[in-house]
Amino acid sequence: MCIRFLLCSRVVNCLDRHVHTCPERVALIWERDEPGSEVKITYRQLLEMTCRLGNMLRRRGVRKGDCVTIYMPPCPLAVASMLACARIGAAHNVVFAGFSAEALAERIRDAQSSTVITVNQGVRGGKVTELKKAVDTALQSCPTVQQVFVAMRTENPVAMTARDIVMEEVRDHYVIQEMQKEDLVCEPAAMDSEDVLFLLYTSGSTGKPKGLVHTQAGYLLYAALTHKYVFNYSDGDVFGCVADIGWITGHSYSVYGPLANGGTTVLFESTPIYPDPGRYWEMVQRLKINQFYGAPTALRLLLKYGDQWVHKYDRSTLKTLGSVGEPINTEAWEWYHRVVGDGRCPVVDTWWQTETGGICITPRPSEPDAEIVPGMAMRPFFGIEPVLMDTEGKVLTSNDTSGALCIAQPWPGMARTIHNDHQRFTETYCQPYPGYFFTGDGAYRSKEGYYQITGRLDDVINVSGHRIGTAEIEDVVVSKDSSVSSGVYAFVVLKKGVNAQEEELSRQLNNMVSKKIAKYACPDFIQFVHRLPKTRSGKIMRRVLRKVVEQDLNGLGDLSTLDDPAMYYALNRCYK
Ligand code: PRX
Repeated sequence: MCIRFLLCSRVVNCLDRHVHTCPERVALIWERDEPGSEVKITYRQLLEMTCRLGNMLRRRGVRKGDCVTIYMPPCPLAVASMLACARIGAAHNVVFAGFSAEALAERIRDAQSSTVITVNQGVRGGKVTELKKAVDTALQSCPTVQQVFVAMRTENPVAMTARDIVMEEVRDHYVIQEMQKEDLVCEPAAMDSEDVLFLLYTSGSTGKPKGLVHTQAGYLLYAALTHKYVFNYSDGDVFGCVADIGWITGHSYSVYGPLANGGTTVLFESTPIYPDPGRYWEMVQRLKINQFYGAPTALRLLLKYGDQWVHKYDRSTLKTLGSVGEPINTEAWEWYHRVVGDGRCPVVDTWWQTETGGICITPRPSEPDAEIVPGMAMRPFFGIEPVLMDTEGKVLTSNDTSGALCIAQPWPGMARTIHNDHQRFTETYCQPYPGYFFTGDGAYRSKEGYYQITGRLDDVINVSGHRIGTAEIEDVVVSKDSSVSSGVYAFVVLKKGVNAQEEELSRQLNNMVSKKIAKYACPDFIQFVHRLPKTRSGKIMRRVLRKVVEQDLNGLGDLSTLDDPAMYYALNRCYK
């Protein structure tokens, strides 16, 4: 049975009710790239910004059900833009500001946005990125876009474009000027609990990113509950999630979860090593952060720089340390617990996905005696029923076993569909194990019944904590005239007769991936090979390639479907 309610837009839960009780409480701390230059925004100010932006969008024709693309780094205007969309019933589509113009264009086209909100330039790690220029390039192939609102992050001038030079119609507007014309009160739209709150694009195992759809009531409820119980959040805490708002972690734990709970949330614009590897911990000391939530990739990087960068700063305010995005290895877990948390803060290794809306498997420190095993995601959150499946699709009931991780019943935060492609949604998540939601991950359940995530089972990989489909990179690499095929990270087969310099070709391929997707998606290593290991039906056996890279000859598993078993050994020799 589906119970539906008509509600005021979600934004009322995140803003208005807190303004009622504690208007001067700090809602956002914008931790700008330049250390020590943070900006604090109270709930009253955030509501005012949101209302002005909501009125601006309404005046400019954005209606309930439309989709607005937000291409901005973490900042108060980006959060207010998300909330303004929610207030007027428009869906937001935040695109990670590290994505290239082409990746942005693909997401704008798929979402059919008519409106884009961006900044003139981004600033990260002391470097300036040309975000408005990327929007201009993207819009050359996005005919649906009628208007662009531009915020000024730097003082450098920005080129503003007219929509139609003859008619002198304006396409680009300065957002602050537009906001100044607006009223401070903006009536929230009445929304159905199942209306769309946002789209967020993520990678799947094909080349085309999917716009996952999250809805009003269930998503917010789940983000708020998990934020409170997983991190042991209490009133007045300062919550420091360092994820970018372009990812689901930023949506649920920089924006919606903390704001729904009336918390003070940090928007981190910088990098873990700018201006030095003490950045996170200096920020913890300065902002008195109580919960810190980050990615194993950053922790692994920081532990190499040594403990002195952590010891230099007072971290006594910390209560809970969270990890997300990829498996956390024991060394990083121990370091996080022992050095960063001085051995007194629980480390919560939280497993979840863009699809799940919020944390699904996690230790729960709010239960005082809950055991936590290093490197394990441990237990299901309230209402989550994890199930492991064997290769034949049968439920594995025993412990000390591994299988495909599925979830047996729906939960409030789950994505409802893929924008414009419900068939892909059911094929990807519902059909592999009928009656269950298939996560795409493998997991191990220990003797005690605790869960450990073992990694993706499909062709999705994790690069520095960012999820990317190998097919997306492959699409770019194979589009170069001289390659015919590529494998994970990245084995490239050259067309017969091509005698290019490998170094030069690697450079060109990297440039192409960076231009078409994003810099982070560039292969670290390109290996030119004569052919790839394939099944007899022609599918590339990526797990074999992965083992080759890991030099794990013993972990090969079943090779009976390999078209030429000698292939593996050939590749292995070639790699060495
Ligand atoms: O493979 C899992 C990995 O990240 C995937 C989800 O990526 P994305 O949708 O971008 O969301 C990332 C932030 C929630 C999962 O399918 N993953 C996420 N958290 C963990 C993890 N792998 C192991 N341990 C985790 N704690």
